[in-house]
This record gives sequence, C-alpha cells and structure tokens, in this order.
Amino acid sequence: MLSETSAAVVRATLPAVQAHGEAITGRFYQRMFDAHPELLDIFNRGNQATGQQKAALAAAVVAYADHLTGGAGGVPWGPILDRIAHKHASLGITATQYPIVGRHLLAAVGEVLGEAVTPEVVAAWDEVYWLLACELIAREARLYAGAGVPEGGAVWREWRVVEKVRETTDAVSFTLVPADGGPVPGFAPGQYVSVAVDLDGDRGQQIRQYSLSGRPGAAHWRITVKRVRGLDGAPDGMVSGFLHDRVAVGDTLRLSPPFGEISAIGDDGPLLLVSAGIGLTPAMAALAHLASTAPERPVTLVHADRAGAAHALRHELPGLQERLLNLSVRLWYENAADAELTGLKAEIAGGLVDPALIPVTPGAYVHLCGPVPFMALVRGGLLRRGVPDERIAYEVFGPGMLN
Ligand SMILES: Cc1cc2nc3c(=O)[nH]c(=O)nc-3n(C[C@H](O)[C@H](O)[C@H](O)COP(=O)(O)OP(=O)(O)OC[C@H]3O[C@@H](n4cnc5c(N)ncnc54)[C@H](O)[C@@H]3O)c2cc1C
Ligand code: HEM
Repeated sequence: MLSETSAAVVRATLPAVQAHGEAITGRFYQRMFDAHPELLDIFNRGNQATGQQKAALAAAVVAYADHLTGGAGGVPWGPILDRIAHKHASLGITATQYPIVGRHLLAAVGEVLGEAVTPEVVAAWDEVYWLLACELIAREARLYAGAGVPEGGAVWREWRVVEKVRETTDAVSFTLVPADGGPVPGFAPGQYVSVAVDLDGDRGQQIRQYSLSGRPGAAHWRITVKRVRGLDGAPDGMVSGFLHDRVAVGDTLRLSPPFGEISAIGDDGPLLLVSAGIGLTPAMAALAHLASTAPERPVTLVHADRAGAAHALRHELPGLQERLLNLSVRLWYENAADAELTGLKAEIAGGLVDPALIPVTPGAYVHLCGPVPFMALVRGGLLRRGVPDERIAYEVFGPGMLN
C-alpha cells in the first residue's frame, strides 16, 4: 500500500509525469546505459530503436501509480505483473539490478520535470517504484526457483543445433539439445525461451524470445524463426537474420529455461487456436502435446497466412489430424491458389480472416497469436459474438499487451 502522504503527492504529480512519460524514459535509458554500458547487452536494441520498449516501461510505471492511487478503472494487475516477470526471468534479470533502474528512473524524472521535483515528490515516486519492484522481484524469485535457476539469475545454458530445417522462404526451424548432454526440461505449450546471440562487430549480445514449436516432453527443443525484413528503409531484424544466416548444425546457442504465463491449451474443454503467420508456433506445440496426451479433445485450428507456401510447419498438420481425432482446421490464405495439401481435411478460404466466420464452440478456451492488429480484430469479433474476455488468451510477439 502506498502511504497516504505519498498517494497525495503521486496523485498531484501524475499528470505531469504522464505528459512527459516518454521524455522521462528516453532520458532514463540514456543515463542508465551511460553509467552501465553492460546493460546494453540485455536490452533489445530493436525495441530501443523503435521506441517500443520505452513505451512499455513508461506505461507500466505510470499505470501502476495510477492504480495505487485509485485510478486505472480497476485494471487487474496480476496478468500484467506476470507477463513482465516471465519476460524478466527469461532474461535473467536480478534483484540487484532493480536499484540501478530505480536510481536512473527517478533521476530522469528530476531532470525532465525540473524544480517541480521536491524531495517529497522524489520520496513518493520512489515508494511507487519500489512497491512495483518488490512485486516483480518476488514473482521472479518464484519463477527462478521453479526453473531451478541458481541465485543471481544464471539462466543461460548452451544448446547444440542438431537440425536446421528451412520451412518456407522466410521461416527456419532449429532442433536443439543440451550441449552438456544433460536432461531436456519440460515446458507447457505456449512457453518461450530467450535466445542470446553474439552479433558481429561492436553490436554485442542480443536476446530475443522464441516460442517452443515442438512437442513438450520430446528429447529436444525446437524453435521456428521468421526472418524479419526491414520495411521502408528500416534495418533487417538483427537476431532473426543472424539465426537464419550464421547459425548452422553443430553450432551452439545460449538459451534460457522455458518461461511464459500464457497457456496455449487452457483447461480440458474445447480449444480454439487462432494464429497468423509465425504466430503459429505456440499452436503447433499445443497440437503436438494434445496429440499425445488428449487425442479426443475437440480442437479447432484457425490459421491465416499469405499463401500455402508461406505457411510454416503446415506439412505437420495431416499427421496431427490423424492423431487428434477431433481436430478441425480452417485456413485463410490471402493467395488461396496454392492451397493444396495432401491428406489434410481443412476448409480453405481466400482473402483475410473474417472473425464472424471463425467456428466457435460454446465454452471454448481461445488462444490467439499473430500480429497485434490481427489479434485485436479477432478478439473484438469473438467478444462481440459472446465469447467471454476471460476465455481469450493471447501472446504478443513483442513488448506489451493488447489494450
Ligand atoms: C513471447 C515471444 C515469443 C516469440 N516467439 C517467436 C517465434 O516463435 N518465432 C519468431 O520468429 N519470432 C518470435 N518472437 C519474436 C522474436 O522475439 C523477435 O522479436 C523477432 O525475431 C525479431 O527480432 P530481430 O532481432 O530479428 O529484429 P530486431 O532487430 O529486433 O528488429 C525488430 C523490428 O524493429 C525494426 N528496427 C530495428 N532498428 C530500427 C531502426 N533503427 N529504425 C527503425 N526500425 C528499426 C526492424 O526493421 C524490425 O522490423 C517472439 C517474441 C516474443 C516476445
Ligand atoms: C519496477 C521496475 C520495472 C518495471 C516496471 C519494468 C517493466 C518492464 C516492462 C513493462 C517490460 C515489457 C514486458 C513485455 O514484454 O510486455 C519490460 C521488459 C524488460 N525489462 Fe523491465 N521493468 C523493471 C525493471 C527492470 C530491471 C531492473 C531490468 C534490468 C536491468 C529490466 C530489464 C528489462 C529488459 C531487458 C526487458 C526486455 C526488453 C525488450 O525486450 O525490449 N527491467 N520491463
């Protein structure tokens, strides 16, 4: 709980902090990276360049202050904290790094807001920061303990690439086993790992998350990576390009344990998996898992892609459909001309997904994954058709959530 005195000060200064949120976090990152250049290796330079990560952190701190002072319209904070904590845990963030972030964040507030920032204002925002930080540190400690990570957030383990398969022009799968020959940890369908790579020249280490696309419980892990191409003069994706072009069978990659709070299978009832493009990776883990654990479960897979030839891993669908007795498949290909796939019983439509035509079984648990506008469209359509909000889970392949 925020103290009464601090709550009043935070309420009074919240509009100014909100108004300057982006300037404050911009200044914060600059200060922090100047003082701790080693942190550049754990932050995502792509997100820094596009401003996405700045927006995510600013939004989280300000929204939490709003929440503590009675605003934010009762937004449930549990899922937001879980998302951040899982992401942090996959990056090996430690409790000892929180004072660094806190110090530079508060100093940045002072720099941007100037004289308005009295010692009382600093104390009040410090309290907000630490209430949030303590929530995250506690969650992250539980996640580390659950994953058997030793103190100090030592999450990294070397994994050897034993297979590299070109799935489509833009997508490649890597099959990985622990380089030390040790056991392969289990994971829940929908979970991801962080992958750390050392880029060439002075670009240092970069870390990205990839959902596990293979069967949980198998003797190896698999990730499927789409090559991100820069649009309108923006640079090509750093890590996806590196994985496509520079990583070969026999090489090793540093991987975190599996984390991620979003289940791709929900409970025991009907399941609706809706994906677009590379967003199919959690759904493929879910299908592989259910094929061996619950072959009779009613499952509908809805997938949208540019074309049949661009649909990664689709060659696995006929085999999955043989084992999953109640799997129905509905595909939307913008270019439906090359949609043939021997052995698959599927309805295939041309054009873009129409949420009104997605088959919805009453009581279904829904899992969405794909570009944010796609998920927003589908979620909106399903909500309008009476699917309860709490039955719709979604995974964003970047920072942030849908609303
Ligand atoms: C939970 C989770 C699961 C994920 N699962 C998968 C998965 O299964 N498969 C998969 O392929 N991906 C997945 N992703 C996405 C993945 O983590 C990466 O974000 C993706 O591979 C892009 O990383 P990159 O380093 O190649 O691109 P980045 O280098 O990070 O670039 C990202 C974007 O920023 C733009 N950009 C970079 N620098 C600038 C600049 N200076 N100016 C303007 N624009 C710029 C680039 O053009 C590009 O569009 C997942 C993400 C999350 C969070
Ligand atoms: C109270 C303190 C903090 C808050 C509120 C916070 C908030 C956030 C949020 C909202 C995200 C985006 C999560 C998502 O993917 O949706 C994030 C990611 C991240 N955080 Fe934190 N964070 C805090 C502390 C820290 C600390 C101490 C570190 C370590 C130095 C850290 C490093 C990172 C990194 C590296 C990412 C991923 C960056 C990216 O992918 O662009 N954070 N954090």
